[in-house]
Amino acid sequence: MKPWGSIKGQEVGLYTLANAGGMQADISNYGGTIVSLRVPDRNGTLADVALGYRTLDEYAVSAYSPYFGALIGRVGNRIARGRFSLHGRDYRLATNNEPGGLPCHLHGGLKGFDKMVWKAEPFKRNGAEALRLFYTSADGEEGYPGNLEVIVTYSLGADGALSIEYEAHTDKPTPVNLTNHCYFNLKGEGEGDILDHLAEIRAANYTPVDKGLIPVGTIEPVAGTPFDFAAPHRIGERIEDRHEQLVLGAGYDHNWVLDGQGGLLSLAARVTEPVSGRVLEVLTTEPGVQFYSGNFLPLPGALPPMIGKSGKPYLHRGGFCLETQHYPDSPNQPSFPSLILNPGEVRRSVTQYRFSASAPVSL
Ligand code: BGC
Repeated sequence: MKPWGSIKGQEVGLYTLANAGGMQADISNYGGTIVSLRVPDRNGTLADVALGYRTLDEYAVSAYSPYFGALIGRVGNRIARGRFSLHGRDYRLATNNEPGGLPCHLHGGLKGFDKMVWKAEPFKRNGAEALRLFYTSADGEEGYPGNLEVIVTYSLGADGALSIEYEAHTDKPTPVNLTNHCYFNLKGEGEGDILDHLAEIRAANYTPVDKGLIPVGTIEPVAGTPFDFAAPHRIGERIEDRHEQLVLGAGYDHNWVLDGQGGLLSLAARVTEPVSGRVLEVLTTEPGVQFYSGNFLPLPGALPPMIGKSGKPYLHRGGFCLETQHYPDSPNQPSFPSLILNPGEVRRSVTQYRFSASAPVSL
């Protein structure tokens, strides 16, 4: 562990997980944040493919926190008007986001799990370096019911997979939707935009949204739309199409309904960067994935600029997220898979970000 400062007297550190293939992940117990992720290209050259800041202060005091690399909870994604009802009681949560002028609760509220100092325990499992993080969210925190105990385990396998295992227990029924918000650029952080990356998503359907980016409640086929990534497409190929949903999202910022999710770890998405050959495969037990193409990262010339950890500016679509999760606004959408965790139950999910490199192109 490398000391990385403190937040209100609580020590914060950086924990490095490494594997034999040369991959390295630096993870902080502040927000359980993936601060850097060094991954080899097809020639073995490492690049840090995760967007993030250099110092703890920038994560902690940045007025604009785009949730770089952070763990998200208690409920990731949006809840319409910050309201939901459970067992006849109405709950009001902070509204900390307002797309299209419609206020909503986003990523756990004003102080979500991304802004908490977690207890950390590094360990080894079957030869892999791992980090277990613990956080207890008190009854009433950010308006949610019940004391929620959360354990997140990161481990870095010899196969190039950074695994994230989530576990949660509660003492009152509560919605729970945990994810990680890493922004990737497989060329390396700060190396321009991600529009040339090739993406595939294993989903025949998605959940279209209204102007507040809240699902309208239907599950619609992606076939014949710019949302169809069954075969690989450049992220930028159709992103400027005048499709209503792309206009509402200012690009891709939607939940894909993953095929064949029966709680088994299966492939959700694959993204390839053709020049470096780096490939990211995302596997998950979750039923959905929010594919966000970094549309709210600053446009060129915007002030103040957003400067990443190696001094390069982060710009519009300079990173993409694949946030594995249940569907947005699930507490208000009876037809979506339920987020409710009850006392006595254990909520478990697993997501893997698995890196490899495609073979060199022979000349
Ligand atoms: C959401 C975006 C939001 C971003 C915050 C993503 O998960 O889908 O709409 O702007 O988080 O940085």
